[in-house]
Amino acid sequence: MILTDKEYDKNLIVNAVSDIESACFSDPWTKASVMSQLSSDGTVFACSSDSDGNITGYVCGQAAADECELYRIAVSDKYRGLGFAKELMDYFIGECKKREIISVFLEVRSSNSPARSLYEKYGFQNIATRKNYYRSPTEDAIIYKKEL
Ligand SMILES: CC(C)(COP(=O)(O)OP(=O)(O)OC[C@H]1O[C@@H](n2cnc3c(N)ncnc32)[C@H](O)[C@@H]1OP(=O)(O)O)[C@@H](O)C(=O)NCCC(=O)NCCS
Repeated sequence: MILTDKEYDKNLIVNAVSDIESACFSDPWTKASVMSQLSSDGTVFACSSDSDGNITGYVCGQAAADECELYRIAVSDKYRGLGFAKELMDYFIGECKKREIISVFLEVRSSNSPARSLYEKYGFQNIATRKNYYRSPTEDAIIYKKEL
């Protein structure tokens, strides 16, 4: 099930997102940055949840004019492989279309095969590489773009 921030207690979302952030990323967002992202104009955000209402993952991006950048999509380890990322991506793309977005951009670590497979499944095209863009560990960023 997909829930937007309007359907959920904001503190619950901030705690769940920051827990998943810490488990998934070497540069996790702080609770303050999650909160500020949720309050920002142009944010495209949703959580996925299981049938008991537990938050399983989230997607977050930022729209400006007719472009949107997908910043994060993440699913808690124990809920992976169950289709939650596809639910989140369907929501995100649908919401971008509603907002008349033309292009979606994102960047990802080159070694992140699950995420790259997800993006390519959704028709994102690899358009550039930023050499040694990421730290801890140092790694290239692959830039993807999808025209809607
Ligand atoms: C990438 C990620 C979001 C996928 O979440 P998920 O809920 O397990 O994905 P789904 O079950 O919805 O699968 C969707 C697609 O993702 C890809 N995928 C998911 N897990 C994969 C794996 N272990 N290996 C390869 N591809 C994988 C596949 O293309 C899959 O489609 P398929 O089931 O038709 O093969 C999850 O692995 C994750 O949270 N990773 C850590 C955070 C991260 O790196 N996010 C991306 C950068 S912001």
